[in-house]
Amino acid sequence: MDTQFDDLIQSALNGRLQAYAPYSKFAVGAAVQCKSGAVFAGSNIENISYGLTICAERIATGSAIAAGEREFLAIALVADTIEPIVPCGACRQFLAEFSPDLIIVSATVAGERKIEKLSHLLPEPTRGILKNVHIP
Ligand code: THU
Repeated sequence: MDTQFDDLIQSALNGRLQAYAPYSKFAVGAAVQCKSGAVFAGSNIENISYGLTICAERIATGSAIAAGEREFLAIALVADTIEPIVPCGACRQFLAEFSPDLIIVSATVAGERKIEKLSHLLPEPTRGILKNVHIP
């Protein structure tokens, strides 16, 4: 089995331990590998309003950005599912802002993993957004 992302997956598992998911009880962990070599982990943070919930991917990437990071090579995410989960649409757009060619390493607690590119999950992330604006 490919061991390249073992450390990043372990960081995501560590991040998952901090999940705040009292409503869904679905704990997710993420860890982002920065171009600088630094790794930042995070977990999902739910809210009683439900809609204000923030996914683990955005927490991990957000703390990296807060520390000055801007370029990311890969992000690992881990949940206790049968098949590895992939980032939701909002997270795909958020991640594409910084690294459209990001590698997504999806893993399960049991050890399944799937590796794919963000550009496959979200083609044309900037099409039609703030481009070709007609300024009067
Ligand atoms: N969640 C994540 O943190 N990342 C994903 O990729 C999928 C969903 C969280 C949001 C919510 O707290 C719970 O999982 C159920 O959707």
